Amino acid sequence: MSLTLYSPAKINLFLRILDRRPDGYHELASLFQAITLSDVITFSLAKKDHLTCTDLNVPVDSSNLVIKAANLFRARTGITQGINIHIVKNIPIEAGLGGGSSNAATTLWALNELCGRPASTRDLMNWGADIGSDVPFFLSQGTAYCTGRGECVQLIPSLPPLDLWIVKPSNGLSTASVYRAFKQSETEQRNPEQHLTGFLEGIPSFFNDLEAPAFSLLPQLQEFKEKLIIAGFSSVLMSGSGSSFFCIGNADIAFLKEEGVFCFKAKFLNRSHDNWYSLMIENGSIAL
Ligand code: C5P
Repeated sequence: MSLTLYSPAKINLFLRILDRRPDGYHELASLFQAITLSDVITFSLAKKDHLTCTDLNVPVDSSNLVIKAANLFRARTGITQGINIHIVKNIPIEAGLGGGSSNAATTLWALNELCGRPASTRDLMNWGADIGSDVPFFLSQGTAYCTGRGECVQLIPSLPPLDLWIVKPSNGLSTASVYRAFKQSETEQRNPEQHLTGFLEGIPSFFNDLEAPAFSLLPQLQEFKEKLIIAGFSSVLMSGSGSSFFCIGNADIAFLKEEGVFCFKAKFLNRSHDNWYSLMIENGSIAL
């Protein structure tokens, strides 16, 4: 039996970084939103694990988060089942879009389905935190206020739709290096709870405390953001630790496509309690 699932990207509608913790992580408060930009992963039970991916830059050994997820699932359930995994990669890497974490969450969900649901979604969320800070979010229903190092997930009802473009320049950024360059003393002391209330009351405002450190590491990123604003978008914000941006509103971005920049027109994506994420295609039928 095989199972094919979408593995969506996320954006951070706002991202506040608070204190650096003794364990080296940072306390954060962020409104996460899943989007329709998705990898597609096919899973089937097998004797031994075997991972393939369409993007040859993605490691297919035990350093890949999907293998970590399979190992963790087996350790926590006692099930000794191998799995074949094939990833069709559409989400750019080193982009702040959570692609690797999403793939890990999707693997936990798929193994749980293929093995007869030995675990609850809450179990999978708790286990996912051991793989990466963003993994539990992807087991939410697509919109969540995340705190702690990102693993404390408070479900938020789905937000009104917004059309957005995801764009990523060719340079990528490593998450750890951006967090290392973060300086609290140079950050505006915004109250994340107030911003959350704003979203819930239909008055959204977007910000990302990791933009300044990312721009200090890669000044071309700031120039790239300015280009997007001049192109006509009403808001342009880096997602997570970058280097992708989400752009709200309308603008002529044909020039970016000509320059070979990754561009994807996305929407918010939510799922119902019992079902994994599915995408509506233009004529209204379910693609998966
Ligand atoms: O949890 P994850 O492995 O995705 O985090 C990657 C790196 O990002 C961590 O090793 C850490 O350097 C940084 N990070 C952080 N604070 C967070 C999340 C990530 O400093 N809340």
